[in-house]
Amino acid sequence: MKDNILISAITKQEWLGEAGEKLRPVVLNAFKAGGEAGTKIKNFLHGTWLGHPLHPLITDVPIGSWTSAAVLDGLELLGKKQYAKGADAAIVIGLLGAAGSMVTGITDWSGTTKKKQKIGLMHGMLNLGATALYTASYVLRKKKKDRGTAIALSMLGYGVTSLAAYLGGHLVYGEQVGVDHTQVSAEYPEDFVAILPEKDLVENKMTAAKAGEISILLVKQNGEIFAIANTCSHLGGPLCDGELKDDCSVVCPWHQSEFSLKDGSVISGPATEPQPKFEVRLKDGQVEVKLEK
Ligand code: FES
Repeated sequence: MKDNILISAITKQEWLGEAGEKLRPVVLNAFKAGGEAGTKIKNFLHGTWLGHPLHPLITDVPIGSWTSAAVLDGLELLGKKQYAKGADAAIVIGLLGAAGSMVTGITDWSGTTKKKQKIGLMHGMLNLGATALYTASYVLRKKKKDRGTAIALSMLGYGVTSLAAYLGGHLVYGEQVGVDHTQVSAEYPEDFVAILPEKDLVENKMTAAKAGEISILLVKQNGEIFAIANTCSHLGGPLCDGELKDDCSVVCPWHQSEFSLKDGSVISGPATEPQPKFEVRLKDGQVEVKLEK
């Protein structure tokens, strides 16, 4: 997909890349400093427990609430004062949702690099600006002074958060962040196919072999052969270049998601979707696999 003017302009900003490279280790080290609890919190915020990214679910709260507030404010401006309290309440709900969106968003953002990281950082900064505008609007509303300015600030915030939402949508549909990369154009073998001579498989060594266009990771550990998709579900990293652990798991080289070789499940994020797992059999000196259902 060809980038539009806005995305091109953002990705040309070198300062965004520099700021991202400074901020990303701060976020990752904060989770690391928390030890096992930090990893559990990070996985929770990614949505590993849900099998789906948590961030897009939570962002519906501020977007929905602030849309309601804009409609109610509009009715108030048309003279229907009875809608004022409803608009104020919707702004508070939106602010609470924005806090949740922020922590889950920063966590997901820490698992991105380069172009995605720049767009993600701009998306986050715009949402931070929108949250500041809504906070100022709410303070004025509570002081019961200058209601017109309060409504103008929230309308401005709505414009800013809409632009941020556009960038969030581009990250998913254009950059495929949060998409299960094992399912992009994947046609996994449903019947056994030979993918590697058995003699080429070495104990405790990761080997990638092809079944048509699909790359499959093969590992022989303690005499047992495991096969899962080699393309990481997070952002498509090659698992065969990662780290093989003794406990029958593999760590992706790109953003360190960890998967079980036994069933493809996610042990640690940022990935939230499991790796497809394959049944393995040996026949005529060949390793054969088919998708496990
Ligand atoms: S591509 Fe990001 S963890 Fe694998």
